[in-house]
Amino acid sequence: LNVLSVASEAFPLVKTGGLADVVGALPDALMPHGVATTTLIPGYPAVGKAVKGTRVVHRWAKLMDVEARLLSARIGEHPLLVLDAPALFARAGGLYGHADDWRRFAALSQAAAEIAGGAVPGLRFDLLHAHDWQAGLAPAYLRFRDAKAPPVASVMTVHNIAFQGQFGAEIFPALGLPADAFAIDGVEYYGGVGFLKGGLETADAITTVSPTYAAEIREGRFGMGLEGLIESRRGRVHGIVNGIDPAVWNPETDPALRSRYTARALGRRRANKRAVEAMFGLETGDGPIFTVISRLTWQKGMDVLVQCLDELVALGGRLALLGSGDAPLEAAFFAAAARHPGRIGVTIGYDEPLSHLLQGGADAILIPSRFEPCGLTQLYGLAYGCVPIVARTGGLADTVIDANEAALAAGVATGFQHGETGYHTLAHAIRRAIAAYARPDLWCTLQRNGMRADFSWAESGRRYADLYKSLTGAA
Ligand code: ADP
Ligand code: GLC
Repeated sequence: LNVLSVASEAFPLVKTGGLADVVGALPDALMPHGVATTTLIPGYPAVGKAVKGTRVVHRWAKLMDVEARLLSARIGEHPLLVLDAPALFARAGGLYGHADDWRRFAALSQAAAEIAGGAVPGLRFDLLHAHDWQAGLAPAYLRFRDAKAPPVASVMTVHNIAFQGQFGAEIFPALGLPADAFAIDGVEYYGGVGFLKGGLETADAITTVSPTYAAEIREGRFGMGLEGLIESRRGRVHGIVNGIDPAVWNPETDPALRSRYTARALGRRRANKRAVEAMFGLETGDGPIFTVISRLTWQKGMDVLVQCLDELVALGGRLALLGSGDAPLEAAFFAAAARHPGRIGVTIGYDEPLSHLLQGGADAILIPSRFEPCGLTQLYGLAYGCVPIVARTGGLADTVIDANEAALAAGVATGFQHGETGYHTLAHAIRRAIAAYARPDLWCTLQRNGMRADFSWAESGRRYADLYKSLTGAA
């Protein structure tokens, strides 16, 4: 089965969040199940620099009004296609947030639909898998193409329903879709054009990245306006939890760690803890170090965490935070660090190796998200013996087992969960974690349970493959 996976980022070439990790890991996850994945991403400058040995396999004189080429290369062992359209993607600044994002990602989506539909000689696909709003129009382009063209199956995966790609109706004529696509069963959304909405409406199946989130987005609180659509297609919605890529996230082999270790030799984490202390300007000590590795946003509950920091320090905790995002939150964490020198260390920025060192050296990772489709940092925490403290929502609810009496008695507890993010729930979870840390045997049990749990892609890879097969009629 040949699948074209289209997304706006893919690790290790270009990454701003978990989407890249998942898109980068899928080809390996699917291969054992007889699925060959080709990944299509935009030709940002960083991609051009990272990818070697490209070959031009197709040209568009006009794609969304600009010249474009399709380059073929490899990502790891797998085929990669790069949409090289300098007028759209060769820019300074972030990946997103440009005034013409609609044109940039409509071009990506249209290219994906054409490629999946067989426009490029030598490339043949059974199914198109679109990720998030940036690829959301791809299933719509497939659905609304020439009725004589053979149908191509499609899957739309929602990594975060909060990001919808919603634009004004005035862009519609430029999209090159037939007039009847501007309708309730097409891309029309609240009078404008919805990229994610169009994909959710027209794809043969919808997936999201955890079973709990799949249920949550049927409700107004989490569906962010799309709950009605999700509910109406509920028989086609599947929650498939993300896995982790063991080639990238393994404390036994991780080159970013000062000291590598296994569940049997947790004492070796100490050298990493000392390195974290040094890098974050923290006092040396045996008390717990909490970490945060995150976008600093409302979604992630970071404003609530700020309120809990004085207490965290008063109880003997320290914090090493790596993140970037909203300026007022960055300022609030800097202010907390200034109030608590040696106890709170803040690094604003994006640093992949440092994120690995923190997982390997901190004692616990705080993830108080208001909503979290899956979340990957709790999975990395589990694999690294960095005990997760999470809100009971989305994928966090599905992947961390709270250290309550029953779970401890059954020997399955892996972390701490709290109810809806707020000062009292989070502060309580932090107090529970600090109390548990004071009991070394208990803490070590939590670490080991997490490290032994299975967050590989084996089961989820099989579920995606089964879904593809059910949609294409493959055995
Ligand atoms: P989201 O995609 O919503 O941001 P996830 O938990 O799914 O959340 O994925 C976040 C990914 O980005 C993880 O791989 C995490 O380690 C990484 N990450 C987040 N912030 C940083 C940062 N400041 N530096 C390095 N890696 C980061
Ligand atoms: C999104 C979500 C996150 C998820 C990631 C990968 O960024 O916010 O929860 O883990 O996608 O699916």
